[in-house]
Amino acid sequence: MKRILILGSKGMLGQELLRVFQHDKKYDVTAWDREDIDVTQFDALYRRVSDMWPDVIFNAIAYNAVDACETDDDEYAKARMLNSDFPGELARAAKAVDAVLVHYSTDYVFDGERPQYPEGKNPGCCGSGCAGCMYKGPDETLPYYSYHEDDIARPLSRYGHTKLKGEQNVMKNVNRHYIIRLSKLFGKPAESVLGKRSFFDVMRELGETKKEVQAVDGEMSKFTYAPDLAKTSKEIVENNLAPGIYHVANDGAATWYDGVKEFYKILGIKTKVVSVPPETFPRPAKRPSSSVLKVTKIKNLRHYSEALKEYLEK
Ligand SMILES: NC(=O)c1ccc[n+]([C@@H]2O[C@H](COP(=O)([O-])OP(=O)(O)OC[C@H]3O[C@@H](n4cnc5c(N)ncnc54)[C@H](OP(=O)(O)O)[C@@H]3O)[C@@H](O)[C@H]2O)c1
Repeated sequence: MKRILILGSKGMLGQELLRVFQHDKKYDVTAWDREDIDVTQFDALYRRVSDMWPDVIFNAIAYNAVDACETDDDEYAKARMLNSDFPGELARAAKAVDAVLVHYSTDYVFDGERPQYPEGKNPGCCGSGCAGCMYKGPDETLPYYSYHEDDIARPLSRYGHTKLKGEQNVMKNVNRHYIIRLSKLFGKPAESVLGKRSFFDVMRELGETKKEVQAVDGEMSKFTYAPDLAKTSKEIVENNLAPGIYHVANDGAATWYDGVKEFYKILGIKTKVVSVPPETFPRPAKRPSSSVLKVTKIKNLRHYSEALKEYLEK
């Protein structure tokens, strides 16, 4: 039996990781959340991981208050601790017991500008939008940029910087790693005390009580269904894929507006959806205008509308 350690097991993603592993007899699963361990106490973390001697560690813990840490220095310090320092220490602990570390990151490491490959890795695309451009699509009509796993990350926000630093610390400290970037996570609300509802749950409530809702027609990216992400994470580990960065998100690039329209269509909600620019809801942290994650290392996931239907059935 393989020993699996899931950190952040009551979060939106963590609870789904627990679900996909705990019913599989091949695995002996240990799940920790805030009440089981304070992961910012690195000595204790190191000791507990060594005692448990896991084969694979999944880190679903993160600081996700994107706007709070942009303006508040104390919050920014918490974000740096949880998103940058802790993953680096966890990677050290994983290396010490020769475990694989699966760590999660975000599309907010990108800036929404023309993607660029690191030097020496350019596959021949200048990024100027020519007919053969791999980013804008063969007919040059796609009104957004999409990013490969290897494209240069340039975050716009403090949150994005902390997550990028976390990626770098993991890569530096343990070779056996998978860094999985996702975007716009949705699924069952997290069990944890501070657990947030996802965008679709909020929009459902508004759709059932209002005649009209406004939705931002911008920040083009992909939705990620937490159970699909958990299942894919398990497959990546089980298939022993090469270590590195993976993009995992459901198919179908969409703005928030596109997402609500699709959602209400599935639900049969007749509420009018008004498209508004991002400036209608000013927020302290800058978001990339487009940050579509290209999924190039694994097979494409199903379209997010299929995932939404399953979410509603459940
Ligand atoms: N949500 C999104 O839209 C989104 C988008 C892109 C990337 N991601 C990434 O996806 C991953 C999973 O995110 P998520 O939305 O599932 O997160 P989440 O629901 O906020 O879950 C995080 C879990 O970690 C726990 N935790 C926080 N601080 C801890 C500490 N010091 N010690 C122990 N446990 C602690 C939380 O407990 P409490 O609730 O009690 O704090 C919670 O159960 C993260 O890496 C995130 O950055 C998320």
